[in-house]
Amino acid sequence: MATATKLLLTDLMSGVNHVPSNYVRHISDRPNLSDVQISDASIPLIDLKDLHGHNHSNIIKQIGLACQTDGFFQVKNHGVPEEMIKDMLSIAREFFKLPESERLKMYSDDPSKTTRLSTSFNVRTEKLSNWRDFLRLHCYPLEDYVQEWPNNPPSFREQVGEYCTSVRGLVLRLLGAISESLGLEKNYIVEALGKQGQHMALNYYPPCPEPELTYGLPGHTDCNLITILLQDDVPGLQVLRNGKWVAVNPIPNTFIVNIGDMMQVISNDKYKSVLHRAVVNCNSERISIPTFYCPSPDAVIGPAKDLISHDQPAMYRNFTYAEYFEKFWNRGLATECCLDLFKPN
Ligand code: OGA
Ligand code: NI
Repeated sequence: MATATKLLLTDLMSGVNHVPSNYVRHISDRPNLSDVQISDASIPLIDLKDLHGHNHSNIIKQIGLACQTDGFFQVKNHGVPEEMIKDMLSIAREFFKLPESERLKMYSDDPSKTTRLSTSFNVRTEKLSNWRDFLRLHCYPLEDYVQEWPNNPPSFREQVGEYCTSVRGLVLRLLGAISESLGLEKNYIVEALGKQGQHMALNYYPPCPEPELTYGLPGHTDCNLITILLQDDVPGLQVLRNGKWVAVNPIPNTFIVNIGDMMQVISNDKYKSVLHRAVVNCNSERISIPTFYCPSPDAVIGPAKDLISHDQPAMYRNFTYAEYFEKFWNRGLATECCLDLFKPN
């Protein structure tokens, strides 16, 4: 059968035991899987229990430190029920097991679509592909989007909807805590977003016959404000730390939180949007589910006034999130981060 007509990696892959050439990275741009530090101690694990009680100031301190030094942390006792997490992962797995014709109903290569299944990163602009299929959903306000979502598996809308609402609660708690950790009003960041946006991706990384030649996702920063990542029990996420890639191994019932580009801007470079990537492996499929929290397209984003001073001048000009988002999607992950394009003149 001709494989060239397959739209999705999942379908292209059945029976293939070499990585097709459009997935093969240049020798200077490969994951070097043996040179990765395996350690979970390096990404802080923060217990959110008593965030609103006796441990408040201590937790705020830990979050501030993690945002400043790592740009990444893990959270436990985050308030999202264990059962909901389990259901979210199994529904994602079920979706990607549906017959090709059923999945393809959701396919689109248009990044502006609010519900779509696609592959790689941006197939319209990129020459090199990534070893990933993904379903991307806008999810806030839920009632504006839920009708577009898949209704197969039959409980998809209900279960994913509940998950989104619960994760949004966690995001709002974290944004309050992060505002405080910057010495800002608790509501400062939420209010800077205008009409808030929440998107999620269901990432599906099929097993790969030659994982050393390609990426699930190459090194990138997230363009949004903050990302809450749920991963299954298969390792694959790596974070750049002191110039080395560090594997973040899964811990059940924890989320991985990372600072996105917009948080770096609002914090006037105090907090860092850090490079991370996903590698693949030859034995197991892997599922990860990031929730991306972002400003509304017309929100004007810039460094918080209280964080600008004579010693710490504004590191960015003001811009709308729409302007940033457009640049991010069109460069096709070719430049790792586009913050440099928004420095003051
Ligand atoms: C992303 C991302 C990491 C992963 O989707 O932006 O960084 O582990 N995913 O899948
Ligand atoms: Ni990312």
